[in-house]
Amino acid sequence: MKIAVVGKGGSGKTTTSAVLARTFARHGHETLALDCDTNPNLGISLGLGEEATERLVTVRDAVDAGEEDHAVSPDDLVERFGAPAPDGVRLAVVSAIQNPEPGCP
Ligand SMILES: Nc1ncnc2c1ncn2[C@@H]1O[C@H](COP(=O)(O)OP(=O)(O)OP(=O)(O)O)[C@@H](O)[C@H]1O
Ligand SMILES: [Mg+2]
Repeated sequence: MKIAVVGKGGSGKTTTSAVLARTFARHGHETLALDCDTNPNLGISLGLGEEATERLVTVRDAVDAGEEDHAVSPDDLVERFGAPAPDGVRLAVVSAIQNPEPGCP
């Protein structure tokens, strides 16, 4: 199951996403939370902590700046852009896909 949380600024997207992710994970579902917001602070709401969240954001920014390669597979994406968060959630801070191509993770 894939769930996307969207809405206008300040409407509760990040809070809702974090509660959903932690609730699914607590119920035993393998849960991957993807933060593709321009202001990526889902890690804070998930309880990952400021330092680890900032580290993931830095890696994503390096990809956006062309200083780091894109992920070559979904597993690579989760490994390189992700970190384990409380309750068993895995968070990855990623870019929005501008021009998706077949096979794009
Ligand atoms: N259900 C709720 N009831 C009351 N306050 C809430 C609720 N959900 C979120 N908030 C509060 O509203 C504010 C904005 O929430 P949040 O950061 O989740 O929104 P957002 O849509 O992700 O914002 P942004 O567009 O800036 O990313 C926060 O202070 C949050 O604590
Ligand atoms: Mg937000």
